[in-house]
Amino acid sequence: MERPEPELIRQSWRAVSRSPLEHGTVLFARLFALEPELLPLFQYNGRQFSSPEDCLSSPEFLDHIRKVMLVIDTAVTNVEDLSSLEEYLAGLGRKHRAVGVKLSSFSVGKGTVGESLLYMLEKCLGPAFTPAMRAAWSQLYGLVVAAMSRGWDGE
Ligand code: HEM
Repeated sequence: MERPEPELIRQSWRAVSRSPLEHGTVLFARLFALEPELLPLFQYNGRQFSSPEDCLSSPEFLDHIRKVMLVIDTAVTNVEDLSSLEEYLAGLGRKHRAVGVKLSSFSVGKGTVGESLLYMLEKCLGPAFTPAMRAAWSQLYGLVVAAMSRGWDGE
C-alpha cells in the first residue's frame, strides 16, 4: 500500500482540527444518511435513539464524536509511522466488533465510514481539498482500517 504524503495530510487536517465537534458531526450525519442501520448500535444506558438528529444531539454521542476525532488526530500526528498505534487500533477494531459494527462498514473503497470521512474533508475544505489530498487520505484511512481489522479477525 502506498504511504500517505505527510505534508498533505497535516495541511488538510489543520482546518478540520480547529473545530472537531462541528466536523465530526458532519461526518456522522453523512454516515447515518448512507447507512441508517448503524443508528441502533449507539445506545447509552439502554436507550435507543429515535432519529439521527436525536443521536447527534446527545452528550454521550458527542463524546463518541470527540473520541473519533481524537483517533484521527493521533493518526495524523503519527502519519509517518503508524506502527506505534497498531496494537491500540486492533483493540479498537475488537471493541467495535463487540458492539456489533460490521467490518464492511469500514471497507476501503465501498465502506460508508471512509466515504463519510472524505465527504467531511471535502465539505470542510471545499476546493482546497485537492485530488492529491484525497488520495493521501484514502491511503491513511486504508492503513488505519487495516490495523483495526486485525481486531475483527480476532488475531
Ligand atoms: C460505523 C461507525 C461506528 C460505530 C457504529 C461506532 C460505535 C461505537 C460504540 C457503540 C462505542 C461504545 C460507546 C461509546 O464509547 O460511545 C464506540 C466506542 C469508540 N469508538 Fe466508535 N463507532 C464507529 C466509528 C468509529 C471510528 C471511525 C472511530 C475512530 C477511528 C471510533 C472510535 C471509537 C473510540 C475511541 C471508542 C471508545 C473505545 C473505548 O472505550 O476504549 N469509532 N464506538
